[in-house]
Amino acid sequence: MLTIRPYDPDRDARAAGILIADTFFEFNLDSFSAEEAEALLGPYLYARSDDPLHQKLIASVIDAPIVWAAEEAGDLVGVLRGRPGRLHSLFVAAEHHRRGIGRRLMDRFEEQCRAAGCRAITLAATPYAVPFYQRLGYRKSTGPRTMTIFGVPGFTTQPMKKRLG
Ligand SMILES: CC(C)(COP(=O)(O)OP(=O)(O)OC[C@H]1O[C@@H](n2cnc3c(N)ncnc32)[C@H](O)[C@@H]1OP(=O)(O)O)[C@@H](O)C(=O)NCCC(=O)NCCS
Repeated sequence: MLTIRPYDPDRDARAAGILIADTFFEFNLDSFSAEEAEALLGPYLYARSDDPLHQKLIASVIDAPIVWAAEEAGDLVGVLRGRPGRLHSLFVAAEHHRRGIGRRLMDRFEEQCRAAGCRAITLAATPYAVPFYQRLGYRKSTGPRTMTIFGVPGFTTQPMKKRLG
């Protein structure tokens, strides 16, 4: 059974780091050279490292005011990070795509944003995820933008927005 529950850093940080590293690399970094992709992974490059310093750094970049985890059969299969009114990132493990997990994480986030009094949610979508967010009612709010990730410029994102009813 799939459960959406609050992320617990002590229990989830390592698995979340691996999930984010693998999913980001597979779906969002294909237009970059191997060297650029490694740099864009930042600390996630070391997601499988047993060095406590690597794991501490990864836990610190996952940390956010709101973090939800999707779990199935004891495995972490999705992670959503954000703050009220702003989505930071959303990743679902590749083998679980198109099963409604991303939508369920977003539903929970939107519910929480509404309860906090937010009238809209904004986000910077990866090009890969634009059709997904459109299915959920988000609309492009400007043209594409480029942003810097872990000090590496040139990552394209699409600003999007949804008004909360
Ligand atoms: C984008 C992502 C989170 C979607 O997660 P998911 O669990 O596969 O999405 P869902 O199964 O909940 O899909 C919800 C709806 O979006 C549609 N959808 C999902 N991915 C889609 C895609 N790549 N293209 C077109 N439609 C898509 C689904 O068909 C579904 O539509 P329906 O409910 O009308 O049938 C996932 O593909 C992912 O992790 N991608 C890589 C990382 C990434 O780019 N994240 C976004 C960072 S901003």
